[in-house]
Amino acid sequence: MVKIGNIELGDFPLLLAPMEDVSDPPFRAVCKENGADLMYTEFISAEGLIRDADKSVQKLDIYNYERPIGIQIFGEKIESMREAAAIAENADPEIIDINYGCPVKKVACKGAGAGILLDLPKMQAMTSEIVKRVNKPVTVKTRLGWDEHSIKIEEVAMRLQDVGVQALTIHGRTRKQMYKGEANWSLIAKVKENPNIHIPIFGNGDIDSPQKALAYKNRYGIDGIMIGRAAIGYPWIFNEIKYFIATGNELRPPSISERVDVAKRHLNFSLEWKGERLGIFEMRRHYTNYFKRIPDFKSYRTRLVETEEPALILAILDEIKSQFSEIALV
Ligand SMILES: Cc1cc2nc3c(=O)[nH]c(=O)nc-3n(C[C@H](O)[C@H](O)[C@H](O)COP(=O)(O)O)c2cc1C
Repeated sequence: MVKIGNIELGDFPLLLAPMEDVSDPPFRAVCKENGADLMYTEFISAEGLIRDADKSVQKLDIYNYERPIGIQIFGEKIESMREAAAIAENADPEIIDINYGCPVKKVACKGAGAGILLDLPKMQAMTSEIVKRVNKPVTVKTRLGWDEHSIKIEEVAMRLQDVGVQALTIHGRTRKQMYKGEANWSLIAKVKENPNIHIPIFGNGDIDSPQKALAYKNRYGIDGIMIGRAAIGYPWIFNEIKYFIATGNELRPPSISERVDVAKRHLNFSLEWKGERLGIFEMRRHYTNYFKRIPDFKSYRTRLVETEEPALILAILDEIKSQFSEIALV
């Protein structure tokens, strides 16, 4: 049984990755329904929380059915991160998560996100302050290192464990790689195999099928897997992986009708939670995957991403359902 503090996560938990403008309550709702064991919010700016900026504060919204959930914060100043952690704790998540992995220039080059991997004493001091400030378990998500010459992920894990971090997710790329190349899971496995490291180690990077998830589970010995991009528009990935691990068989893929129903729920919740403009806009990145492998789908996809009226988008989704309902997807 994998545990973070008192939170029991089963034998091999599957985590939904924090993803900016993706891992919001509407998307988390459909991931939870489809088997995600632990979910994280998208990253939230510590400075934004302290300033009480609407955009940051809204990201603290949590619904009871999502539990357990972690709120992820990022920032470069120790003092701000400590206060932001306390604000996040007030929103009553199960976990506070620190982002030490964001590679984006405006974050990492200021010393936040993956930028802190260039200053491990500061990383440790910041983490220690946060752990002391809150009563909930603190977890960290990071990358292997800044670049291929500065990979110190075992030291990072030790330093974090020493100051009380209760689980670590490692994306098997460096900051320099951004999203290029392949995630290096051997280096994640080395952290897991280090006899001095006892906290759960979750692997992250490029898991996009039940077969790959099972193979990596067996090969790298990690405590669980975090999934990001493969869940976008395809929340079924969580239950598909679980079923494959448990039985060695593939779960029947969702029918077109199920895909439409889930996409509609997701869209409706997005409209409600973010308002019409953003709700429609941010939903667009999900359609390709929701309707992956439907033959001759392109014109529908174009209409879905070009239409700006909610009622019309819902009507297109209904049209997809009736047009393609007979198709069996494999
Ligand atoms: C659109 C997008 C937004 C992301 N935002 C965040 C974020 O807010 N916090 C974070 O720790 N990682 C973020 N990531 C990184 C993912 O959590 C994950 O580490 C990465 O996508 C690799 O996992 P995957 O191959 O399963 O997608 C983001 C990734 C994507 C694609």
